[in-house]
Amino acid sequence: MDKKAIDWSNLGFGYIQTDQRFVAQYKNGAWKEGGLTEDATVRISECAGVLQYAQTCFEGLKAFTTKKGNVVLFRPDLNGERMEESARRLEMPVFPKEKFVEAVRQVAEANQAYVPPYGSGASLYIRPYMFGSDAVIGVKPSEEYEFRVFATPVGPYFKGGAKPISLRVCDYDRAAPHGTGHVKAGLNYAMSLYAIMDAHKQGYDENLYLDAATRTKVEETGGANFLFVTEDGRLVTPKSPTILPSITRRSLLYVAREYLGMEVEEREVLLEEVESFAECGLCGTAAVISPVGKITDHGKEILFRSGMEKMGPVLQKLYDTLEGIRLEEIPAPEGWICKV
Ligand code: PLP
Ligand code: COI
Repeated sequence: MDKKAIDWSNLGFGYIQTDQRFVAQYKNGAWKEGGLTEDATVRISECAGVLQYAQTCFEGLKAFTTKKGNVVLFRPDLNGERMEESARRLEMPVFPKEKFVEAVRQVAEANQAYVPPYGSGASLYIRPYMFGSDAVIGVKPSEEYEFRVFATPVGPYFKGGAKPISLRVCDYDRAAPHGTGHVKAGLNYAMSLYAIMDAHKQGYDENLYLDAATRTKVEETGGANFLFVTEDGRLVTPKSPTILPSITRRSLLYVAREYLGMEVEEREVLLEEVESFAECGLCGTAAVISPVGKITDHGKEILFRSGMEKMGPVLQKLYDTLEGIRLEEIPAPEGWICKV
């Protein structure tokens, strides 16, 4: 398979249109079979549920070219499960996870020329999404939906690649108690845009959100979960019912324990204890592990020992091990790697 002429190593996190995408429609209470199309546009009612009341959810996962030359997906079944959860919470019909995995596989296969080569550091980002497509003017669920999957080659999520980023403790909230913070609803991201633009204006890369109820506990950022490393080398990550259950985080906890023999703690993390940690990072599909060098809490600066130049040694080891597994350099746990 000839690859496209793309400067893989200098890709940012942006949209590049690829050749094929998957579309399935839901009508009269059932999903139609669906299939691939070259048409990259969507045509829906001006009164569609997604346009009026933001009835939409999405997923994000990646395909890689491995050392063995295979194109693989990383744990797509978990994205399929999470999308089922998102759909239920948003009163949307569930797109079954087995069909989800098959649609994702078809899109990766059809766009193989856009899967960055092994060693480039880039990957093919795959975006499954679903939205209410028929007219609703009263506030109620749509009756018709589209499930779609497109793919686009990407590099690092944060500008500057692997350089540590700086965060500020945010005065806006991301998720309410008993709200939608634990699912991947488009609305969670729409309401974060003001806060992220404000953070950028103030010179920060991202926001650290606190729990809305007490504003004492670390939640997550707009698009990734937190990882902390203690002075004695334990991995700590916030547990909260209002954060997105990151698949990267779940995988890293396993890797830390089973591959690196580390102690791991998934628990409430108080803002006031953050200054005691040696390393901090963000984890997610887009973020992979992005090191955090500094957190500013209303003028008070918390500088991690690992500094603003490179990732701390423990997070680096975790990063290398996870990437090694995904790129078939290191044996993967059963079921983690799905060949396209
Ligand atoms: N938290 C939020 C708010 C996200 O949008 C994402 C990205 O999907 C994550 C965490 C990381 O989740 P995952 O590792 O499954 O990509
Ligand atoms: C992902 O990591 O897949 C996400 O959806 C996060 C988003 C901020 C790009």
